Amino acid sequence: MHFTLMNVLLIGSGGREHALAWKLAQSPLLTALYCAPGNPGIAEVATCVAVDAADHAAIIAFCRTRDVAFVVVGPEVPLVAGLTDALGAAGIKHFGPSRAAAALEGSKGYTKDLCREHGIPTAAYGRFTDATSAKAYLATQRFPIVVKADGLAAGKGVVIAANRAEAEAAIDVCLGGAFGSAGAEVVVEDFLEGEEASFFALCDGRNVLAMASAQDHKRVGEADTGPNTGGMGAYSPAPVMTPDMVDRTMDDIIRPTVAAMAARGTPFRGVLFAGLMITAEGPKLIEYNVRFGDPETQVLMLRLNSDLLAAMLATADGDLLDYKLDWSDDAALTVVYAAEGYPGTPMKGTEIRGLDAARSVEGVEIFHAGTKRVNDRIIADGGRVLSVTARGRDVAEAQSRAYKALDRIDWSGGFCRRDIGWRAIGRG
Ligand code: AMP
Ligand code: GLY
Repeated sequence: MHFTLMNVLLIGSGGREHALAWKLAQSPLLTALYCAPGNPGIAEVATCVAVDAADHAAIIAFCRTRDVAFVVVGPEVPLVAGLTDALGAAGIKHFGPSRAAAALEGSKGYTKDLCREHGIPTAAYGRFTDATSAKAYLATQRFPIVVKADGLAAGKGVVIAANRAEAEAAIDVCLGGAFGSAGAEVVVEDFLEGEEASFFALCDGRNVLAMASAQDHKRVGEADTGPNTGGMGAYSPAPVMTPDMVDRTMDDIIRPTVAAMAARGTPFRGVLFAGLMITAEGPKLIEYNVRFGDPETQVLMLRLNSDLLAAMLATADGDLLDYKLDWSDDAALTVVYAAEGYPGTPMKGTEIRGLDAARSVEGVEIFHAGTKRVNDRIIADGGRVLSVTARGRDVAEAQSRAYKALDRIDWSGGFCRRDIGWRAIGRG
């Protein structure tokens, strides 16, 4: 156990980081919480500082000046860029994997090869750096098929191609440089059928602790139609993740991955977020992320009773063996309130009012994702702007509280989906 009080620095600025900051701020182990760069919501629970996460020396210097003993990295970009390696070299404890272990998210081909080597269930695939061989591979495949940029493409690098012509076009777009170096290699994989779920586990390099499941709504339109987004809403737990599915996910996917990473000399420490397809044959891995999900974190944090900071410290210290987390039996649901235009070019600059009235609804927390404060006003400043989040006895109650709160927000520049949670509620 850790009884030392400490200053903590959180890296990031989205709804995920607001939820993490809200939870970290409740920790009895915390003295001061800093967030770089943060946002106006985070500023209510932490001190926001304008230090650039891409400038590793500046982050380290900040930690030394402010006596920061622990750094929590929210987004994937600084992880893939090796921020934690720099912190480790400077002797600063941190939550988040090394650059080498972050390849589980940074390269889809890397993860697919690891799955193949260790018999981890995932879609059959090919990896290609030239269009001719990628297209030749299509000749032997069935459609639809999935074409993915290998690297980080901010959620835009995946195309589900209905036929060969669409797949060839997606290969050309990717290898033609649409995603920069992230698309220098393309992964072509079988289309999996089933229900998607997100699953989160803490990993300390050797030991694995299951957290919880969630489901998000990636499409912008109701009934899960229209273009993909970063996520328009989420709820937890995911009904499809029965205890049996959780066991199979842990045994067949998460544990073998963590063992393989340790055996490769690149142990994974942090939170492993498995994007799963629950198929007729059981859970299959769609992709890994090496950080918490956004907006899944918003619902996870509302359900977590245990101290998040203590759990993150145990993860960093390799102390997860026999560690327990206490989760509420309540469900949680979040609705993303996005700016008109999202996921294309969002309209910025409109004023948002009524946040205090919204927050007073029972069980509700409002997390900021893309706002800025101008004097006393809150202004929309991004695509996903707010995450209106609620707890309830079940998904239906959490949903009705979240929409009740959202309807108290006075914002002419925003839109949301009205059907977040439909699949879970439809199950009855
Ligand atoms: P990813 O960025 O890899 O999570 O992919 C984005 C979305 O594309 C996923 O959430 C799925 O909805 C879909 N997708 C990706 N790969 C597959 C696949 N092999 N089969 C079916 N759907 C997929
Ligand atoms: N909501 C999906 C993600 O965070 O990648």
